[in-house]
Amino acid sequence: RTLQEKIITIAKKSGKIIGLCCERSVNLDQHIDKDGTLKGHPRVKVIQLPCSGMIQPSQLEQALAKGASGAFVVGCASGDCHYRTGNLLLRDRLSGERAPKLNFKKADPKRVAGIWVSRHEWPKFIQERTDFTGKVQAMDNAGAASNGGKANG
Ligand code: FES
Repeated sequence: RTLQEKIITIAKKSGKIIGLCCERSVNLDQHIDKDGTLKGHPRVKVIQLPCSGMIQPSQLEQALAKGASGAFVVGCASGDCHYRTGNLLLRDRLSGERAPKLNFKKADPKRVAGIWVSRHEWPKFIQERTDFTGKVQAMDNAGAASNGGKANG
């Protein structure tokens, strides 16, 4: 299956938070189940890739459009990308500084995050990932409350 197909399959399971993670950044191998679920975090599904530069902003837009609550990217820290600038390209695309840009009308930027960490920066990854998923959960809870208390996830 293509990356796009994998993203859509996960996104359709309502309430999921998708992480697209460079496999050269933090090592997630011991922390995800066979189906990509982050251990201890059933809402978070991870897809690993050779480099964050392979990710197009439109794929994150589509993840949210198809039902994901949030989408985050994990790439190598600045200067660490095996392909030199894949991480920088994506970072600039997410912040709207380089084409193709993340379309803020299609994707609420509060539901998208980039986490840039090198292999040994596990605590930083945990901190930023926890901050992001907590923020998404709070937005979902607020949305559920204004929808008459409909629970989400
Ligand atoms: Fe990790 Fe490019 S190799 S972001």
